[in-house]
Amino acid sequence: MINEKLSKIWYGGDYNPEQWDAATWAEDDRMFKLAGIDVATVNVFSWALIQPDETTYDFEALDATLDRLYKNGVYACLATSTGAHPAWMAKRYPDVLRVDKQGRKRKFGGRHNSCPNSPTYRKYSARLAAKLAERYKDHPGLLIWHVSNEYSGYCYCDNCAAAFRVWLRERYRSLDAVNRAWNTRFWGHTFYDWDEIVPPSELSEERGDNRSTFQGISLDYRRFQSDSLLECYKLEYDELKKATPDVPVTTNLMGFYPELDYFKWAKHMDVVSWDNYPAMDTPVSFTAMAHDLMRGLKSGQPFMLMEQTPSQQNWQPYNALKRPGIMRLWSYQAVAHGADTVMFFQLRRSIGACEKYHGAVIEHVGHEHTRVFRECAALGRELAHLGDAMLDARTPSKAAIVYDWENRWAVELSSGPSILLKYVDEVHKYYDALFRMNVQTDMISVEESLERYDLVIAPVMYMVKPGFAAKIEAFVKRGGTFVTTFFSGIVNENDLVTLGGYPGELRQVLGIWAEEIDALLPGQTNKIVMNGSVGPLSGEYEGSMLCDLIHLEGAEAVATYGEDFYAGMPAVTVNKFGAGEAWYVATSPDRAFLQGLLKHLCDKAGIAPALRDAPEGLEAAVREKDGKRFLFLLNHNKQAAAASLEGVWRDALSGETRQGEVDVPAHGVLILSKEA
Ligand code: GLA
Ligand code: ZN
Repeated sequence: MINEKLSKIWYGGDYNPEQWDAATWAEDDRMFKLAGIDVATVNVFSWALIQPDETTYDFEALDATLDRLYKNGVYACLATSTGAHPAWMAKRYPDVLRVDKQGRKRKFGGRHNSCPNSPTYRKYSARLAAKLAERYKDHPGLLIWHVSNEYSGYCYCDNCAAAFRVWLRERYRSLDAVNRAWNTRFWGHTFYDWDEIVPPSELSEERGDNRSTFQGISLDYRRFQSDSLLECYKLEYDELKKATPDVPVTTNLMGFYPELDYFKWAKHMDVVSWDNYPAMDTPVSFTAMAHDLMRGLKSGQPFMLMEQTPSQQNWQPYNALKRPGIMRLWSYQAVAHGADTVMFFQLRRSIGACEKYHGAVIEHVGHEHTRVFRECAALGRELAHLGDAMLDARTPSKAAIVYDWENRWAVELSSGPSILLKYVDEVHKYYDALFRMNVQTDMISVEESLERYDLVIAPVMYMVKPGFAAKIEAFVKRGGTFVTTFFSGIVNENDLVTLGGYPGELRQVLGIWAEEIDALLPGQTNKIVMNGSVGPLSGEYEGSMLCDLIHLEGAEAVATYGEDFYAGMPAVTVNKFGAGEAWYVATSPDRAFLQGLLKHLCDKAGIAPALRDAPEGLEAAVREKDGKRFLFLLNHNKQAAAASLEGVWRDALSGETRQGEVDVPAHGVLILSKEA
């Protein structure tokens, strides 16, 4: 459990009383009660108020807020405020200001833009965390620490350049090793002195589209900047823990946010939390995958839904309202995938600056007679009713998809073979095929143990890190099914090609050699022609984007290409290896093919879906706790959907017994439970 002080699904969100007066606070207290709100994330952007100058700290307003909230039954998710530095600090100590990728020194403005290697920022952010921890360590309302806010962005300033050189020395020890790792003899880039190395900005190696002429340095710069921000987080974490060793600490992550290696970050977080802002046209399977990734960061430990909008965003191009029922549906989708909290940005809509048109529990009209408030209050009542029943429940999965940020960086920095290749999209294709069958999937790191899985899929595993290939071999040998795709096994962790034939270290387990890689034009396809039938697969399918030209080295061709000069060469292969199988999908296949392939592989491995034969758009997900099984049926359709249940269940909200055919209303949710 995240914190036993509040043993139910936490309900609340970001709250900015500093933007309001006392009369409004009284209304907040009244309306929070009406909505069943029991946690408020406070102090997210109050640094300038708490520290008006270099030596003054003023906690009076925050004292009053925490006392008032606690008196009204609302706990504090207490932020450290370091997501935006004060203006006086920027003026007096310009080292806190970042230099952007174009080489421009920033001025004061915006947020989330302090240089992570600024001595001033590090000193004052850690000091503020220490002061907050000292002041509130015994406050009964303190529930959890929220460090900074949505760490993000890179800096290219001289302090970062110097720190990068130190980071490189630690990683490589010698300049020779750096030169080798980056293959600097290419284009005459050999370095003779550490000081010759400069950040790979648009003034040096990189371009506006994030491609790089030197992937080695660009990859290391991403690692370094992710580590630098993590260092800032850790400085605060350590200060908080000194005074409050038992209060959990988190920072809000952003799902598939590209710039930080969250697997590395999560090791330093007590609980993962994240902000979920899908657009109205984001596939629901993409959101589900993001939840699963956030759960996977700490090997299946439940996470916090820290932010979502009750109605609409302000920062998307078209900020559609969440239709009636959608906020509830998406909240339970998070819970179904492992969230133990449902929290919003924001509790009250502010009146000025860029978030005044961002949805809130309390709208500008100020009273509770709004659609949004009614929906929020109804959900609040349900969450109160559910109590602690499913808190800390786990999400059992036999299938896993491997995801790796460094691999993503390397793939997307790559010059060639195709700008159409987007790592996350390829991962999502495989996830979506499992999702459509309601097969629960874990999103795991390359470091995760594979022991509990029967099916492991690693789409576009371009970068194979030390130990990964051996782990896959052992997994397949003992009977596991492994699937990987085109453009896998190409490079090592430094983005240097593994010589001797693709897919490099994965060649043996896959039993193939990929001789060449063809890139197809947008809209161009090749045919995947099945050699007979495999499960539901037979006949022809389409492949696009990239086609590996492969030779069999022990594997068997399940399908071949139907067109072009490589017609007849294998397009899909399977290699029997020990007691298991390793599959290679040499092109980016259409949905029908993937659906069929994964159906076949799940059937063969005995992986059961959470619900059999569900109609399209009816999502089913399971959590388990203390011998109890919770089945969530989430209807993403605009019309009712029927599910046929196996066994007798209890409706966790109404208490009624459910069995056989049940109807889930349009955009509705059923939460069922039974003894496992
Ligand atoms: C992020 C931030 C919040 C707010 C919301 C708006 O998630 O953490 O402070 O800006 O976006 O959607
Ligand atoms: Zn910097």
